[in-house]
Amino acid sequence: MAATSDKLSDKPIDSLDPQAAAAEHARLGERIAEADRLYYQDDAPALTDAEYDALRRRYEALEAQFPALRTEDSLTVKVGAAPSSKFAKVTHAVPMLSLSNAFADEEVFDFVARVRRFLGLAADAPVAMTAEPKIDGLSCSLRYENGRLAVAATRGDGAVGEDVTANVRTIAGLPHALDGAPHVLEVRGEIYLSHEDFRAINARQEERGLPPFANPRNAAAGSLRQLDARITAERPLRFFAYTWGAVTPPLPRETQSGMVAWFRQLGFPVNPLTVVCQDAEALLAHYRMIETRRASLGYDIDGVVYKVDSLALQDRLGFVSRSPRWAIAHKFAAEKATTVLEGIDIQVGRTGALTPVAKLRPVTVGGVVVSNATLHNEDYIKAVGSDGQPIRGGIDIRIGDTVTVQRAGDVIPQIIDVALEQRPATAVPYAFPTVCPACGSHAVRDEGESVRRCTGGLICPAQSVERLRHFVSRLAFDIEGFGDVYIQTLFQAGLIKAPADLFTLKFDEVKAAIEQRRIQVSDERYAALGKEPPKRQSSRKSGDPDEDKAIKNLLNAIEARRRVSLNRFIFGLGIRHIGETTAKALARRFPDVDMLLAAIDAAAKGRPGEAWFALSSFPGIGPVTLARLVEAAGNLEATADEAGAALARSTVLGRLGKAQRAALVERYGDEEAVIAALEAAAAARPTDAYRLLADDGEIGTVATNSLIEFFAEAHNAEAVAALLAQVTIEPPEAVATQTAIAGKIVVFTGSLELMTRDEAKAKAERLGAKVSGSVSSKTDFVVAGPGAGSKLKDAEKHGVKVLSEAEWLALIGG
Ligand code: IVH
Repeated sequence: MAATSDKLSDKPIDSLDPQAAAAEHARLGERIAEADRLYYQDDAPALTDAEYDALRRRYEALEAQFPALRTEDSLTVKVGAAPSSKFAKVTHAVPMLSLSNAFADEEVFDFVARVRRFLGLAADAPVAMTAEPKIDGLSCSLRYENGRLAVAATRGDGAVGEDVTANVRTIAGLPHALDGAPHVLEVRGEIYLSHEDFRAINARQEERGLPPFANPRNAAAGSLRQLDARITAERPLRFFAYTWGAVTPPLPRETQSGMVAWFRQLGFPVNPLTVVCQDAEALLAHYRMIETRRASLGYDIDGVVYKVDSLALQDRLGFVSRSPRWAIAHKFAAEKATTVLEGIDIQVGRTGALTPVAKLRPVTVGGVVVSNATLHNEDYIKAVGSDGQPIRGGIDIRIGDTVTVQRAGDVIPQIIDVALEQRPATAVPYAFPTVCPACGSHAVRDEGESVRRCTGGLICPAQSVERLRHFVSRLAFDIEGFGDVYIQTLFQAGLIKAPADLFTLKFDEVKAAIEQRRIQVSDERYAALGKEPPKRQSSRKSGDPDEDKAIKNLLNAIEARRRVSLNRFIFGLGIRHIGETTAKALARRFPDVDMLLAAIDAAAKGRPGEAWFALSSFPGIGPVTLARLVEAAGNLEATADEAGAALARSTVLGRLGKAQRAALVERYGDEEAVIAALEAAAAARPTDAYRLLADDGEIGTVATNSLIEFFAEAHNAEAVAALLAQVTIEPPEAVATQTAIAGKIVVFTGSLELMTRDEAKAKAERLGAKVSGSVSSKTDFVVAGPGAGSKLKDAEKHGVKVLSEAEWLALIGG
């Protein structure tokens, strides 16, 4: 591979112009992609780790300086694809071991007896042991040298793990510097995600059109092994310290519990449910206590770990193969149960997605009665495994089947297995509906999509109700007291069809609708009992004072939201792929709603055509190469004479690498056809207006297309206009004035490792700082990352305080 022997440019990134940067970025991207291919697919690495890392760092530094290079195709942005880089290997100074397991109480008694026997103690001699939750996450070893985090590594095979230092640095609550720690201190523990953060991450995955994670552990693993530390940074990983690896002697404490208390003093999070017990009964009592609290802890645990407390005794006990003799994991019974699938319901969501829900014969799973479980989507019913992967060559789930249900933490229960041998002979494969159960419109599934959607749009009552529910929800318009019953009642009465209708509701009509609903419910109850409803004279005139008050409160709550921030307004529209984060990004970028609508309109006119997409998805041609090619091809038409045209063509083709050229010729037939394809792509390329949105690191193509499609529907644009006539939009999030950096002038230089330049700038501005491009004596701080050049010198010249990225983050509070 000739390209890999190219020398890496050592020009300061600050000194490059955008064109030179784009060219270098494209070249590096190709080299990195090629190196990845050789490493991952051919298992034949062409570069040393150091060479590879240098390429990668330079590539990232270019993007940090020139954010426009960070398009969807960037190797730093691509998520979920085959790993496009590798983590360096770390050999653990002290191996990371595993624990042997106990399931029954008996095994715990055996464990304690074994320990006593091994130590030659009497059968009833007290042996102090710790008991603590077994966290269901990923173990990690954090090596501090001279009080500074030097390396963080995953467990790997116990002997060799992977270097995840950059990602571990994003974990909030880990001390960056230790006071009074020995020269070397390896603190070990578990990295995990809280249930709340897990749900938020999955919501964001969905917002971005990416598959959700099956459980918090998978999400934590995916985040930790994320090549781009910025993505890890937006997934709030947490850590509990519970053991250690290499430590420069002497150890400061003599017991396990003492060591953990010391970790806490040093600033590490430790689990608060750790106790010291004197016998097996006490261990078991603690186990039961933790078990009862399991569902409300807010993070996943899968058992309780018992450890001999005295380190001297631990030493004497030693190890059997790969597990310590002085510890054991007492696992919880799996939260699984078998039951019968009695039916499959189809729910219709806000964007028309049809979601199948399993109706189960009620069964207790880990102490909770379960009667519903998610079936995710159409394919899941056809073939399902616990991880959503096809099992046993793909089997279907049928009504009447005996199924295994699993509940993990407070995540929605899932069906993880089907007992084929118990399938009733009459059971037939489930036919997923092709019409919407709520409105009868066609339900279609686009190519490459896992979700089937109702095409009813506005006429579908299920979608309308879901949209209204979303509109009033906490992160949208946050209308207090507007619960499901009100929504259903007012919708059925025809009073609210679209969001704008909320703002014209009248007391009397709401009251009448509620009265009407009450009669209907009562009639239904009588009907269910097979009785005639009583004759009603007329509707009650006097009115129920409590109900009147509730209606007034509701109308006041609606009134209070006539002023709404732009981000809530955008989010409240419930547009597919526009979640809370994207709505905020849009509101920051276009703080005025008319500006935003104009930008979407302009983007719609500048959307790339098929011919452009055909080339943009061509393997080996990145966005930068394509942009250059297309630009050159776009100029061809203007070249009139034959000789000039021939020269121009060879220039276009000359921009291609040998392999790319050959691949394109193979695909299109000959060079003429390649040129024609390029010309067609040029004619169909996206305009700047489209790219303004699509190339924005926080908005992106998926959201942009979704916005365009939403506003292309006249009824949506009308609904938005009607809503705008009712509400007053306020600017997005107010800028803080009470922060450490309010009113300060900040300059960023060099490459930032934990966030993009744009993000850093947005964050600083939100906290009230002014971000400037050049350093003067007025500058308060220069935040300098690797590769910082002339601005760093300017800072020295003007005596401006220089901060590292970590110091900056500490200053602004993470
Ligand atoms: S102690 C030498 N304590 O469980 C023993 N491990 O099954 C070191 N784990 O790889 C482990 N919570 O990832 C210990 N409180 C805890 C734990 C814990 C979770 C994990 C850890 C280990 C695995 C062994």
